[in-house]
Amino acid sequence: IFFVATTNAASLFQKPEIEQKVRYDNYKVFKIKYETAMQRQKLLDLTKIYQSFRLWHEDSSECYLMVTPNALPLFEETLKISNASAEILISNVQDLIDQENEADTRASDKFGWTRYNSLAEIDAWLDEILAVYPVVTEGFVIGKSYEGRDIRGIKISYKSGNPGVFIESNIHAREWITSATATWLINELLSSSDDLVRDLAESHDWYIVPVLNVDGFVYTHEKDRLWRKTRQPSNISQCIGVDPNRNYDSHWMENGGASSDPCNEAYAGPYAFSEPETKALSDFVASIKDKLNIMIAFHSYSQLLLSPYGHTKDEVPENYDDLMQVAKAYSDTVKDLPYGTVYRYGSSAGILYPASGTTSDWAYNEQDVKISYTIEFRDTGNFGWPPG
Ligand code: ARG
Ligand code: ZN
Repeated sequence: IFFVATTNAASLFQKPEIEQKVRYDNYKVFKIKYETAMQRQKLLDLTKIYQSFRLWHEDSSECYLMVTPNALPLFEETLKISNASAEILISNVQDLIDQENEADTRASDKFGWTRYNSLAEIDAWLDEILAVYPVVTEGFVIGKSYEGRDIRGIKISYKSGNPGVFIESNIHAREWITSATATWLINELLSSSDDLVRDLAESHDWYIVPVLNVDGFVYTHEKDRLWRKTRQPSNISQCIGVDPNRNYDSHWMENGGASSDPCNEAYAGPYAFSEPETKALSDFVASIKDKLNIMIAFHSYSQLLLSPYGHTKDEVPENYDDLMQVAKAYSDTVKDLPYGTVYRYGSSAGILYPASGTTSDWAYNEQDVKISYTIEFRDTGNFGWPPG
């Protein structure tokens, strides 16, 4: 009794630990053009100092680099030495995050699509949907995340024997628009009275996982809005997490399509399927692969519809022409909608960059799901954000 009493008294005087959010005050994003390999190398070398520089985008002629305020002098110096020119894209990254939060409070606190929802809100909404449509829906859990959260999905089936469509969403934690879109899609499939939507809903079996990277998603809401990876710690580094879209067991770590550095945003992990989240998804998909015709992975942003392969651009899938015909139909249709959004399409490695160990390639290569796409939603970078 004495012991318990002492412990309680002691805890009364303990300061509660205040969990602070990561802030990006006066973090700047620069667009840097380079002409020589030397210039490029000098600038990319900076990204080894992960705490100060983060690469948002890179190709052979330019890169976007986020720079912390205290690293500005070193950045200016490096620019001077390498004789490269930079233009400022975003002068304060925190402003963008604050604007999103302000937009949030203007909307109602009910689940909806005028603001982003937390994982708890999405879960509660899923329960509601399952209760309202018990005949045609079924909830499922593909497994648990590293931190022990359920990874949930919903199956929508109006009749048995329909071809199956699997949608993987929010594998990257900060890509909130993907789970917003996945939940919107669920709602449309169930409640729309549009003939085309009804036909689509009732002629396919839909398996939708709105938030695959649940730990990362919660982390972006509670701690760091710009987090991309999972939350499993590394044995060899202080840096946390793996890029789950480099962790699938298909051409894992081949052709420079992923990084072996745990601090890198595209870290492939210590081995394929090291992450409970990708392992769970792969086991679930493998268990229903005979029923699946289509696999779609949701990402943001860049306005792209990507087919396999990600690991090489020297080859394309044997049904590439078919995949591109469908992609063109998608692109043409979306362009004719009121926003006039232009989507480009092609193979992943062909029009974006090499990416190995991705969901789309794994489904195509290892599960025989021959209609496999990665979609990168709006925009093309005007609003400033690390790409998908
Ligand atoms: N932007 C995403 C990523 O970097 C998509 C990569 C697409 N590549 C692919 N093979 N599916 O992870
Ligand atoms: Zn992504």
